[in-house]
Amino acid sequence: MKNLLCLLALGITLSLQAQTPKGESINLNQKWRFIQGDNIAYAKPGFDDAGWKTIQTDRTWEESGYEKYDGYAWFRIKVIIPLKLKQSAFLKDSLRIYLGKIDDFDQVFLNGSLIGINGKNVSARTVPDTMFKAGTQSYWDVERPYSISASDPRIKWDQENVIAVRVFDWNGGGGMYSGDQAITMIKVSDYLAIENNISPYKFVNDNLKKTINLRNTSASYTIEGDFSIRAINKLTGEEIYKNEILNIALKPFQKQVLDIQIKKPDQSALITYSFDFTKAGTKIYVTDETPYITTPLPSALPRINGASVTAARPGKPFLFTIPASGDRPMTFEALNLPKGLNLDPNSGIISGKVDLKGEYKVVLKAKNEKGVDSRELTISIGDRICLTPPMGWNSWNCWGLAVDEQKVIASAHTYLNKGLMNHGWTYVNIDDGWEIRGDLNPKRDPEGNILTNEKFPDMKRLGDSIHALGLKFGIYSSPGPLTCGGYTASYQHEEQDARSYASWGIDYLKYDWCSYGNIAKDATLAEYKKPYFVMRDALNKVDRDIVYSLCQYGMGDVWKWGDEVGGNLWRTTGDITDTWESLREIGFGQVKNQPYAKPGNWNDPDMLIVGWVGWGPSLHPTRLTPDEQYTHISLWCLLSAPLLIGCDLQRLDEFTLNLLTNDEVIALNQDPLGSQAKQTLVDGDIQVWVKEMADGSKAFGVFNLGGKTANFILEPEKAGLKPGGELRDLWRQKSMGKAGNLISVAIPSHGVMLYKLK
Ligand code: GAL
Repeated sequence: MKNLLCLLALGITLSLQAQTPKGESINLNQKWRFIQGDNIAYAKPGFDDAGWKTIQTDRTWEESGYEKYDGYAWFRIKVIIPLKLKQSAFLKDSLRIYLGKIDDFDQVFLNGSLIGINGKNVSARTVPDTMFKAGTQSYWDVERPYSISASDPRIKWDQENVIAVRVFDWNGGGGMYSGDQAITMIKVSDYLAIENNISPYKFVNDNLKKTINLRNTSASYTIEGDFSIRAINKLTGEEIYKNEILNIALKPFQKQVLDIQIKKPDQSALITYSFDFTKAGTKIYVTDETPYITTPLPSALPRINGASVTAARPGKPFLFTIPASGDRPMTFEALNLPKGLNLDPNSGIISGKVDLKGEYKVVLKAKNEKGVDSRELTISIGDRICLTPPMGWNSWNCWGLAVDEQKVIASAHTYLNKGLMNHGWTYVNIDDGWEIRGDLNPKRDPEGNILTNEKFPDMKRLGDSIHALGLKFGIYSSPGPLTCGGYTASYQHEEQDARSYASWGIDYLKYDWCSYGNIAKDATLAEYKKPYFVMRDALNKVDRDIVYSLCQYGMGDVWKWGDEVGGNLWRTTGDITDTWESLREIGFGQVKNQPYAKPGNWNDPDMLIVGWVGWGPSLHPTRLTPDEQYTHISLWCLLSAPLLIGCDLQRLDEFTLNLLTNDEVIALNQDPLGSQAKQTLVDGDIQVWVKEMADGSKAFGVFNLGGKTANFILEPEKAGLKPGGELRDLWRQKSMGKAGNLISVAIPSHGVMLYKLK
């Protein structure tokens, strides 16, 4: 699952750090024996693996030369576990076999006996069955901290032990890859969970509040020690909060709930939670950073937001909802609408069909008790659609394969409840997991029509209800026989599927390479393009405009030919995940594709990772710090990237809403020129990215990729900017006066200052 391009996704901001003195740990990041295929006899300690190759476990097996290999493989290692390890440990009850992260599924055997599956210990009686079930969530990003009682006879103290790991990789990268595998005795610190990311901070008047848990995960040991919380202003380093709770005693499995309250700072505060295990003589700490809101609250006056241009092909259904903030009730007018379109004055929904090609200049008006706003909208009826990057929501980064109809409907309703629609958010897209599954084979009705699974009883009804809200409806498939999640996909049924989509009212299709890897003859451009042409032809035959989103992770420099195969957007990399490493790698890696973005064609650095995410049934608040999230949204807007919210919209908190509803920031993304920002300056950890705007101004972000606050003096000319113009801070929507020859900026670590220069 893990793509080669998204390198080690190790959380740094929430990192748990424990000291392991030398000699108390056996490093397992050594050469393991490795073989492709599957044979349960490989688990046996006496099996002769001398003929196997060796492999490193700090990279995926693709990175070790087993390119594109998906399927079963085994890893084996022989290791002497000294009795001294146990004798010298503070706690002597359990041995910990930590295997880092494994892509996608694993079963672990110690001396021939199964001890764990996919990161969880199993009882000695568990039988290793067929481990892989198509359509189940991948465990590629999950840690494997296996443990076994020190008195278990399966451990051979002072003798050779054999650890055998059976792995199944479903797609993308595979294998044991995180490089931090080790054997230790379980330490007291392994038993304490400082759960500081169970809920986001809440703004209550002038304060920030949050609840954290201290949890003892041991069944027998009482954790004793002192806990302290310290907050410093990230920019200045000044201490703004300190609290100590001495002599905590947590009984086995006991949880202590702590409420934190600090005065709201203007910037992030860096909070360190430390636990001092006084008896064991060891300490651990975790950190996080507090949110701060920059987006001013929308005024009560009407204000029309979002794109100033929208498009449809002649004779195809047209839908556009006027995005306007301000007090409700509000009424709408649209002057000079082309023939065939009608406006509902109460909802602001414009719908119908226009037969004649043309660039229609329409005047929109929004009116409430407090006043009126008016703005021009160009309705372009022609061959090209998707003239500004699509803005919407997609189910993948939150629900993964656990998506269902209720979750999609609930998301659509939050567009209204939370006012997202007022800022231009439009698409409601279902990713993988809606189709029927047939074990490892595609399954269709007797006529070959695509079938939904039980979680999506009626797609047409769902489409109608999304359209009734003035929103658009998106779906997902693959050109291969199966999707990446193992569900039925479109291979050899493309026209039939396009017809089904059209009959459900689909407006957007994400078409994901996945199992087409087994169909493509070779890794040539012609083979990369082929399946995308086929679906393009199929989409051209239906009576709807369907935005065409190519997903094949950037193979063959897709940005160079995505337009040729009729794509509106194309993923440029592997999957994003909610860590700074992933965000940095993907976001700041969008240099080469810059010239290829234009109205109707967008480079897609993957979906947003703000809010509650999880890729499965259980979600967590994003592991990105608030400054990293400002960087994320600022960069995606500068890059003219598609903006697809990836979180549970029902759990949108105040901070995340502030990130997603800043109209001056969104205006960069939706600018009709459609130019993607260029990286114009790299100076150590500082990067400047500049985007040309349709009104002749330039928007730019000064990013600090380093771990410390940067006080940077920007010489505009060195970054392709002209001094002298009016400078505006876009997040704070505040004019900063004339830009001089030197612009001085203080940027928190991993943060950004985002400006427009007129
Ligand atoms: C991946 C794709 C993800 C998601 C997933 C569904 O290949 O990059 O964005 O769509 O498949 O299985």
